[in-house]
Amino acid sequence: MPERSGHDVVVVGAGLIGLACAWRAAQRGLSVILVEAKEPAAGASGVAAGMLAPVTEAEFGEEELLRLNLEAHARWQEFAPELGGDLHHRREGALLVAADRDDAEALHRLHSFQLSLGLEAEWLTPSECRRREPGLSPRCGGGIFAPHEQHVDPMAVVAALLAKGLEIRTGDPVAAVDPHGVRLRSGEAITAEQIVIAAGCWSGSGIEGLPGMPVRPLKGQILALRRPPDRPLAEHLIRTPRCYVLDRGDGRVVLGGTMEERGFDTQVTVDGVYRLLEAAYEVLPDVTELEFTGARAGLRPATPDNLPLIGRSEPGNVIWATGHYRNGVLLTPITAEAVAELLTGGEVPAAVRPFSPERFAVGVR
Ligand code: GLY
Repeated sequence: MPERSGHDVVVVGAGLIGLACAWRAAQRGLSVILVEAKEPAAGASGVAAGMLAPVTEAEFGEEELLRLNLEAHARWQEFAPELGGDLHHRREGALLVAADRDDAEALHRLHSFQLSLGLEAEWLTPSECRRREPGLSPRCGGGIFAPHEQHVDPMAVVAALLAKGLEIRTGDPVAAVDPHGVRLRSGEAITAEQIVIAAGCWSGSGIEGLPGMPVRPLKGQILALRRPPDRPLAEHLIRTPRCYVLDRGDGRVVLGGTMEERGFDTQVTVDGVYRLLEAAYEVLPDVTELEFTGARAGLRPATPDNLPLIGRSEPGNVIWATGHYRNGVLLTPITAEAVAELLTGGEVPAAVRPFSPERFAVGVR
């Protein structure tokens, strides 16, 4: 069997998480190789919207995830300039708006919850919402303004990471891990002291020698739209309980995202496209004027408690960096920092709860 040797670390998966982990590890002086089954960002990273939006993502009962997401948001403010390049980083904040009275009730409760957690979120009346965002429907029932919500273009982040000169082996999936490194489906062995599993929803199963982790695919469909250059659709990240719309500032508009339990299915469906357009039209009627340029479906890696899976497991040379659920882009810098610490024997950021076997019942296959 041919063998490549001499690496400190092999990172399995060249999505955003894998690339950022590899970059941070290389910055610490480790020799790193990425192995990717297809091509960089072939999974969730290539479909993601890129929201850095911890406040409007906050859900009842997910306070630990919220704390992590807030820390991650803070990390982004240094990560983006350090990474460099035009990431289409927009910082105008988010408006989470009510399309009807039911939404308004639900959002009032959510707003009280946000305030109880000390989050910066302001309730706006319908006319205040429309003053901030004139394209909103006159039927808008008010909403929550979260001033620090942001977004980036995930593919621009991928491009910036790829420009760091990382060594990447593509088109050959990892078949097995062992104490010496990984074996690819082609039979090639790559030896490395430590292995980082950052293969998104494909991390949970199918690699021999790893414990089966409960990471499952959570399908999201997302639409690509285009507006005339001189007519922004919305200044802020616009959300409702059923969709989000973000204007990249250069004519591209993103409308997402469905949440579907469909296994590894990545088909774009009429139902998905229809529901997203309907949800956007409720609050931003001008969306019907835009050019429809495409629709895609991606698979978020989800865990039973929606928290990411970051940390060491048996076999002892394996570090996990997956399970980022709806927050993969947001959690990229903090995950990479945590993994770099784990690789070098340091301390992971306090907001990251390192994986322990008690969290899920796991066993090596
Ligand atoms: N972060 C948005 C989504 O997962 O759809």
